[in-house]
Amino acid sequence: MSVQLTLCRLCARSRPEFLRALAKLTATYPNDLIIEELECIAACDDVPAIMLETSYYPQVSPGELIALVHQRLGEPVNANEP
Ligand code: FES
Repeated sequence: MSVQLTLCRLCARSRPEFLRALAKLTATYPNDLIIEELECIAACDDVPAIMLETSYYPQVSPGELIALVHQRLGEPVNANEP
């Protein structure tokens, strides 16, 4: 099972804590998480916002991002999170 995470490249890359969460998620789900970076997802008032498949989530914290992906893909057995 895989899930597509869509986000704004500019908004995501300007937030180091968000990038760290993404790096953790891609390491945890190397074959199941598909990240689609767009120039803008038309969510400039809600940043950082994401889409998981067709669900929209505004003002997502790094911790919320990790939790949302875990909900969709299942908690990894060897999760090593703070
Ligand atoms: S520039 Fe990031 S959502 Fe529009």
